Amino acid sequence: MPHIREFVWPDYDRVAALWTAAGRDVLTRAELTAKLTRDPQLFLVAEVDRTLVGVVLGTYDGRRGMILRLAVDPAYRRRGLARLLVAALEERLAALGCPRVNLLVLPQDTGALRFWRALGYLPQPDVLCTKPLGVTRPSAAASDTMLP
Ligand SMILES: CC(C)(COP(=O)(O)OP(=O)(O)OC[C@H]1O[C@@H](n2cnc3c(N)ncnc32)[C@H](O)[C@@H]1OP(=O)(O)O)[C@@H](O)C(=O)NCCC(=O)NCCS
Repeated sequence: MPHIREFVWPDYDRVAALWTAAGRDVLTRAELTAKLTRDPQLFLVAEVDRTLVGVVLGTYDGRRGMILRLAVDPAYRRRGLARLLVAALEERLAALGCPRVNLLVLPQDTGALRFWRALGYLPQPDVLCTKPLGVTRPSAAASDTMLP
């Protein structure tokens, strides 16, 4: 039976492995420490038989929610785990008063696009524009130079 719960620090290595297996950038501990100063209840993991097999990271800026770094262990896909993770995150965002949630998908990532469409997330024509601000944080991480 899948179980969705909040991230706790002993999960870090397993979460990093899931992101790596899914081809996603791994957020460092320092980056996650910074993230967890806000909305720690939006960083969720999925367990099956006490094995951590899925993760999703949500943020809320007071106006819009954002879904980042959703990943499910390849051996556990197509069992509804990502759907459960996203539903739990949506519930938590709604509880914060968030009226709309956004996310980014690479256009060539057809499997992920189909997943998001199945959950009611519709592609928009907007193009993401981005600019680094040249800030070097004490916890400088490689991902500071990467896209969201
Ligand atoms: C995308 C991902 C998170 C989906 O996880 P999952 O647990 O397998 O998804 P679910 O089982 O909850 O899928 C729910 C529905 O989404 C759709 N779906 C999911 N994966 C799909 C795929 N690869 N191709 C087409 N449709 C898909 C199906 O309609 C599915 O329902 P069904 O299995 O009853 O047909 C997983 O494939 C993954 O980790 N991929 C690598 C990382 C990634 O792409 N993350 C999202 C980046 S934006």
